[in-house]
Amino acid sequence: MATDKATLNVDGETFDLPIITGKLGRPVVDVSAFADAGYWTYDPGFKVTAPVESKITFINGGEGELLHRGYPIDQLADNAEYLEVCYALLHGDLPNAEQKKDFYAKIQQHSGVHDQLRRFFEGFRRDAHPMAIMVGVVGALSAFYHDGLDVSDEKHREITAIRLIAKMPTLAAMSYKYSKGEPFMYPRNDFNYAENFLYMMLATPADVDYKVNPVLSKAMDKIFTLHADHEQNASTSTVRLAGSTGANPYACIAAGIAALWGPSHGGANEAVLEMLDEIGTVENVDEFMEKVKRKEVKLMGFGHRVYKNFDPRAKVMKETCDEVLDALGIDDPKLELAMKLEKIALEDPYFVERNLYPNVDFYSGIILKAIGIPTSMFTVIFALARTAGWISHWLEMHSAPFKIGRPRQLYTGETKRDFVKLEDRK
Ligand code: CMC
Repeated sequence: MATDKATLNVDGETFDLPIITGKLGRPVVDVSAFADAGYWTYDPGFKVTAPVESKITFINGGEGELLHRGYPIDQLADNAEYLEVCYALLHGDLPNAEQKKDFYAKIQQHSGVHDQLRRFFEGFRRDAHPMAIMVGVVGALSAFYHDGLDVSDEKHREITAIRLIAKMPTLAAMSYKYSKGEPFMYPRNDFNYAENFLYMMLATPADVDYKVNPVLSKAMDKIFTLHADHEQNASTSTVRLAGSTGANPYACIAAGIAALWGPSHGGANEAVLEMLDEIGTVENVDEFMEKVKRKEVKLMGFGHRVYKNFDPRAKVMKETCDEVLDALGIDDPKLELAMKLEKIALEDPYFVERNLYPNVDFYSGIILKAIGIPTSMFTVIFALARTAGWISHWLEMHSAPFKIGRPRQLYTGETKRDFVKLEDRK
């Protein structure tokens, strides 16, 4: 990392702040020496703050570029399986044949969950949102793996990552089965990762010869890859912040799931379908767009904090969407609606001036719907896939010395240094 200096003058005092240049991306001004100046930095929404150094994922928002361990996302989506991408996120590079075999075997070995975990499901209302269930049951894993788990031990950290990636499809499918009142389906060794997820979600015990459509399992695997990691987004930062206290990693991932749930983040894929339902037909699109421009509603699945040109995940997702709809012979009127929204948004000055492009969530909902996944499971699928990214960042943090994350604030409240007794309060 090359180092230069930025000079800052505050109240006549000069501070030389190191400029650190990484491999890619903007250089950063290291403001830590500024602490002695008696000032803090203020950056609501962390728009220009890099709290970590990382080697996992790189995004160039201006160019619409996303790299995992140096590889472009479109190449990974087209040529690698999701579990190979997971391996790369965890270990630094794609696996060789032997590493792949070993990693896949470990994932298969840990895909089951303790039978007692089903009681946690039973504690939820039947109509509980699957994301609420996921926050609960993934957090509950910390009760199964706590006393014997030493986060300072590399082997313990590694098995935690394997367990999480292996169990997420099982837990995700269980959260759906529970809401449907159908029996839980267990993972099968003759199915791969994506096939197993579809089987556990969509099959019932009566389907003894259940076959997974290869077009769908391939699309599912690609969807997982496209959501695997996205550097320091809100949920990953949440996992890192929770992890910085030394907290149990399963509880940290539950915190990540909670952060992902919001409609500004992973909850957007569900919100896109709700929006399309609300618009109803293409005739209503113009009126809806006027509401967006009056800022009464947001066009869900559009815009991104980092991408200001295009979202490379959305590009691959759109191609996959076309493949799936074609293979299934689906002519979904929602797609026509989505395409009209997309066309207007890409041409209308309101969206063009603000660099608002379709993001990954705009198309993922349409494919998931075509595959037969209910809307309430969309964000769960995002969480399932993002677990690899979250735990990779947690591992990266724990593999070197780190500090507890503790931001400052700009206090604008009152000062009342003389306590007012109850009888004297007006
Ligand atoms: N529809 C309409 N206007 C928008 C939208 C939208 N989706 N997104 C941003 N704007 C406007 C916003 O009102 C603002 O306008 P003005 O300059 O007149 O005040 C301008 O664009 C800049 O927006 P911002 O809120 O400052 O941007 P941000 O970087 O803080 O927010 C975002 C990014 C993703 C939260 C936001 O674009 C959004 O809410 N999009 C819809 C939700 C969505 O699709 N989220 C999924 C993101 S991709 C999945 C993931 O990685 O999490």
